[in-house]
Amino acid sequence: MSRLLIQNLRIENAAQPSDIRIEDGRFAAIAPRLAPLPGETVVPGHGRLALPPIVESHVHLDTALTAGQPRWNESGTLFEGIAVWSERKQDLSVADVKDRAARAVRQMARFGIQFVRTHVDVTDPQLTALHALLELRDELAELATLQIVAFPQEGIDSFPDGRALMRRAAQMGVDAIGAIPHFEFTREYAVDSLNFAVELAQEFDLLVDVHCDEIDDEAARGLETLAARAYESGLKERVTASHTTAMHSYNNAYFVRLLRLLKMSGINFVANPLVNTHLQGRCDTYPKRRGITRVKELTEAGINVSFGQDDIVDPWNPLGTGNLRDAVFHGLYVTQMMGRGQIMDSYRFITHNAARTLHLPDYGIAVGKPASFVIYDAPDWYEALSHNAPVVASYRRGRLVAQAEPARHEVLL
Ligand code: FE2
Repeated sequence: MSRLLIQNLRIENAAQPSDIRIEDGRFAAIAPRLAPLPGETVVPGHGRLALPPIVESHVHLDTALTAGQPRWNESGTLFEGIAVWSERKQDLSVADVKDRAARAVRQMARFGIQFVRTHVDVTDPQLTALHALLELRDELAELATLQIVAFPQEGIDSFPDGRALMRRAAQMGVDAIGAIPHFEFTREYAVDSLNFAVELAQEFDLLVDVHCDEIDDEAARGLETLAARAYESGLKERVTASHTTAMHSYNNAYFVRLLRLLKMSGINFVANPLVNTHLQGRCDTYPKRRGITRVKELTEAGINVSFGQDDIVDPWNPLGTGNLRDAVFHGLYVTQMMGRGQIMDSYRFITHNAARTLHLPDYGIAVGKPASFVIYDAPDWYEALSHNAPVVASYRRGRLVAQAEPARHEVLL
């Protein structure tokens, strides 16, 4: 039996430190003081913050690390990004996608990310990226759990054979079905494509995650259709609405009416603060909208919201390291959630809330669960977030999968 004792960790901002015992890859004991057992490896925790693993609930691994290929998105709009990607897509190969996606996942692992929901563009008759990501899902399983969403980047009903491609993706073994109502040719197509996506998910017993109303058009109404179908079909919390940036622009009377349905529906939301503040508001002169969904109001209404990175060095985001902390840091500013308690709790956007969206079983630091967790070089999340503290250790099922030395800085005068 392999045994490890890590002493003196502050679990999820706890005022008092705890010791953690790991046996055969699971949490065996958690208590303020645990006496070392004979033959047990003992590691000092130095009073550092321990969190459950970081969960990326929205990223596009198939497009990662392609910025500038074949050209840069100079307008910074979602639609130029889609046009650039459409050109880059012509050169895709399985090896190309696997190489970039694996590099991105390894980069993310440095920052404690162990679970990744990736959208994969399936508006490609060859489904090249999907083939690549399905292989990678198996090959990287020791390092990270990948969840794959069939994402129709260029539409379901507005792309040749869009429905057939989605069905093939479902048959090939994706984890979730996507849609993109704001990109469909017409409102009718938007509604029909959402109905199709929900029915396909039901048929194959899959989750749903829709790129929903990622536009500044206050009249975009994909969300109400998605929420209504989630409610009526019983899929409810198995459904996620990503982006929903149009909600930023809704009139308040409509939002208040919609909120009732959103609560009834039980659906999850994913906001992408970095990319959406960059892409949205591009048709505005001044004032320019922030282009982020109503995170604060949804959270206060008890609705589950998580944060994602969306894009890492691709046509929609020329920057990014894979560190989800940046999404939280920026997200708190743009959503004006900067109270002390809000900052302390904000780790939940990239841990518990995201885990709920992904339907991760056995997630969290508790006796009996798989010993997966991360340790920051900081005493609590407030300090970790503020100082961009490194993840000094990332344990996955009891095994150390990433580590870092804290940086040393000296001011000499
Ligand atoms: Fe996205």
